[in-house]
Amino acid sequence: MGLRRTLRADVGNVISVVYVVGTELSVNLNRSAPPSSKFFSVKCSSTVQCSIQPPSQETSLLLPQTLQRNQLLLVTMSQASQSENESKLSVRYYGEKKEVLGNAILHLTAVEISLDVDADRDGKVERNNPNKNSWKWGKDGYGAILLVNCDTEQSYWKKPDLEKDSITKVSDLKDMSPMVLRTRGPAKLPEGYKLTMHISKSDAESIRVFRSGTSGKSTNTISGSFLYSFFVQSHPLVLGGNVLSEEVPYVGGDSEWNYYVEGIRFLDRDFDGSVRIHLSLLEPVTRGIPDTPIFTDTVLFRVAPWIMTPNTLKPVEVFVCRVPDNNKLLQQLEVIVARGGYKLNICSQFETRGDRWIQDEMEFGYIDSPHHGFPVVLDSPRDGKLADFPLEELLGPDFGYVTRTPTEKKSNSLDSFGNLEVSPPVTVNGKNYPFGRIIIGVAFPTAETGRNMTQVVQDFLWAQKVQDPVALFSDWLYVGHVDEFMSFVPAPDRKGFRLLLASPDAAYKLFKGLQNDGHGGARIFEDVKDAEPESVDEILGDEDLQLANNYVQNCIDWNRDVLKRELGLENADIIDLPILFKLVMSKKSRKKKALAYYPDMVNMIVLGKDLAIPKPFGPKVNGVCALETEVRSLLEGLGLTCTFIDDFTTYHKKFGELHCGSNVRREPFKEKWWNMEM
Ligand SMILES: *[C@@H]1O[C@H](CO)[C@@H](O)[C@H](O)[C@H]1NC(C)=O
Ligand SMILES: *[C@@H]1O[C@H](CO)[C@@H](O)[C@H](O)[C@H]1NC(C)=O
Repeated sequence: MGLRRTLRADVGNVISVVYVVGTELSVNLNRSAPPSSKFFSVKCSSTVQCSIQPPSQETSLLLPQTLQRNQLLLVTMSQASQSENESKLSVRYYGEKKEVLGNAILHLTAVEISLDVDADRDGKVERNNPNKNSWKWGKDGYGAILLVNCDTEQSYWKKPDLEKDSITKVSDLKDMSPMVLRTRGPAKLPEGYKLTMHISKSDAESIRVFRSGTSGKSTNTISGSFLYSFFVQSHPLVLGGNVLSEEVPYVGGDSEWNYYVEGIRFLDRDFDGSVRIHLSLLEPVTRGIPDTPIFTDTVLFRVAPWIMTPNTLKPVEVFVCRVPDNNKLLQQLEVIVARGGYKLNICSQFETRGDRWIQDEMEFGYIDSPHHGFPVVLDSPRDGKLADFPLEELLGPDFGYVTRTPTEKKSNSLDSFGNLEVSPPVTVNGKNYPFGRIIIGVAFPTAETGRNMTQVVQDFLWAQKVQDPVALFSDWLYVGHVDEFMSFVPAPDRKGFRLLLASPDAAYKLFKGLQNDGHGGARIFEDVKDAEPESVDEILGDEDLQLANNYVQNCIDWNRDVLKRELGLENADIIDLPILFKLVMSKKSRKKKALAYYPDMVNMIVLGKDLAIPKPFGPKVNGVCALETEVRSLLEGLGLTCTFIDDFTTYHKKFGELHCGSNVRREPFKEKWWNMEM
């Protein structure tokens, strides 16, 4: 039984009461009795169910029975009334000799009111789900879901729809969560009664509520086709901004009225994603006295998180930039992308204005709900020449946009999204991460100073929760991005993937092996225009280089330990790729920082089983690059195809590689985030 409401009954008076089906009325019999009453009886219409508490000895309430102290009459009705004052109830009081002392009469009007949402997450708004005001994660979970309306319906409006407080297109409705107000009762509510919808001030910062201009009179088909089942004329804003409470129409009979709830704010440090909407029935008192709510129904929504897509998901679209010196590279990439049947999106020189680092400008993700979902680009605070690209070129119908503005005046290199990656799904000490874990790079935890990813972006990432982030140490790198020393590739066995790590030790081992086999004279950079060739003997003889690489290996090993712990990996899940680094003086920090010595093969583009890998230009044995041979032998056994692409002049010399110069939009996970156990 729902809410219990205490009611007065007056001897000699008729009191008219509006009753909401599902609640319970309670009348204190003793309190309303004439002074010398000893007995009472109750008579009511067949539509009314009455009981006494504590229960009486008599079999029927129609017979006079002893009036006890604190005795309550409990009243319920199971159906809405057809007309006002339809049901009646009277209490008769008797004296010592069972003489009648008076009658207290109630006229009852029953209404059914239910504010409904899709709490069982099947895309339809069911009637009065008992869990509509709560939220539970997991396959047996419940609770309605809200999308942030961060796409735009108009291709010329270069702002997400959430920035305007009106609906201009029918297609905008599918980005909102359906909510239905269902009522049953007489043609109109008794004089003075009204329905209001209301939200808290803080929730008004996160949602808006719109109403369909016309009611959908109930037929047998409900909800499923609620969007298209009636003609959409206009959709007035009901709640949002400064409007926290508004009267909403009551239609008599059996009716349902469609509402649309728009999410306008992503989860963040100060917003856990829960919002509530209330619907109250207000009872008039007298002029000048505020109406009192006699019934309130509440629904709860949770805002969908922004979810990143790891390398193991199927690519949809590959983004690269055209710059004056990368034509040949783009042609080679085109072949690989076409082979997989993906779309290649080459940003023109006009769009890129010489900025080739499209990895750094944005990160692709998506949002999802039982009724709708779409990709959402997270725009980095980096803001290079590509700064306008996500908003100008990507935002559109069913393509959302979100960004965070740092409080610092200038962003640093760690704010670039080459420093924001995500692992494939993992299980760590029995805890499942079916969407993987976000990986970012920060300053060494013990460092007092150092570059860090800006707090507003970190806060945003942590608040999404489903891909609980892991912070690695990347400030030791000159550029400072995690994608300079790690990547993930799909694998047919074990956890379904391998973690690739750059490894100076593996490189030294390979070079020493070459020397031992009599290839000490073989040279790196043989065919490269922009570099001086160097022999294996020369590299191995360079003590400073060895010291620098020992330091780099320590930094990577520190991260390796964190990754093993936080992703639940074993050594067999990790492959070391032979990469050497060098230390260069950073003007900004006046500290030595690491850069790849030759093209950094771990900074690859993963397209299904096809890998586009920076061509290392290593020492040749029998005319074949020994580094390529090694990498092939490490990866091709996993069913992967390695294509080495020359990015030396256009990317490597500018402190980036293929991954930095590309971005891949991937299919969303098949798994639904709300089914995750938290
Ligand atoms: C219902 O009863 C109340 C109080 O007795 C009265 O004021 C009202 O006019 C009645 N309504 C109708 C439609 O009879
Ligand atoms: C950088 O961010 C990490 C992760 O949030 C935090 O633990 C660390 O204290 C920050 N370091 C500095 C120097 O601000």
